[in-house]
Amino acid sequence: MSGHLRLGVNIDHVATIRNARGGGHPDPVRAARVARDAGADGLTVHLREDRRHIRDHDLETLAAEVLLPVNLEMAATDEMLDIALRHPTHAVCLVPERREERTTEGGLDVARLHNSIAPIVRTLVHAGRRVSLFVEPDPIQLAVAEAMGAQVVELHTGAYAEAWLTGDQARVQVITAQLAEAARLGAARGLEIHAGHGLTFDNVGPIAAIPEVAELNIGHFLVGEALFIGLEAAIRRMRALMDQARTGKAATSGTIR
Ligand code: PXP
Repeated sequence: MSGHLRLGVNIDHVATIRNARGGGHPDPVRAARVARDAGADGLTVHLREDRRHIRDHDLETLAAEVLLPVNLEMAATDEMLDIALRHPTHAVCLVPERREERTTEGGLDVARLHNSIAPIVRTLVHAGRRVSLFVEPDPIQLAVAEAMGAQVVELHTGAYAEAWLTGDQARVQVITAQLAEAARLGAARGLEIHAGHGLTFDNVGPIAAIPEVAELNIGHFLVGEALFIGLEAAIRRMRALMDQARTGKAATSGTIR
């Protein structure tokens, strides 16, 4: 299970900057091209209810270019289901969403929301999508995700990233162990394991080192870092750090910083 670790680059915040002024600059599709050239394996976009970053037409322009497999993150609502069915993407990741939140806070509680989420998962799987559920590293969430027929779970690393920011190493270790155990349990259930949220150059290593994790989805940090070192260099550096954590070998490329 510890093969190539895929990097999905989330380009939402390229659109956030674009939308601050209207118009088309910076163009998320151009960022997608850079991501591809820098070694990303996929693109992630979150079409939020309020369209604060990625907008419907971005799905069309990304699909028209066929740059990399696209993972569409969305709330489990009828509106989003309809859009997902009209815009075939490689994968769909169901995430929780409340209009007032700044970002995705906490995982989707698939156990509590089973009755509303299960039919959406079923419809998407029938339509040929790879369905991922963004969940906390909790055995119950994994069991329900499997029972619903999702092929993938993305483990929420937000609490891990927060603990890292506070410098509480004991808490970082506890949460890393929870994530590693969830990855093991999920993989044993036949789920493909992804992880993401709040990952940076500093904190990506221990998550990338979890052997069952097949993909990391990373956005905000890369777009922020792009201001200083450029998007291509930021992605190459992240890719190198991921490979280094996975293989235990020092990074040989992307060693800016
Ligand atoms: N994975 C999921 C499911 C997300 O919703 C997000 C964005 O909130 C990310 C990964 C990327 O998180 P970040 O932008 O903090 O890297």
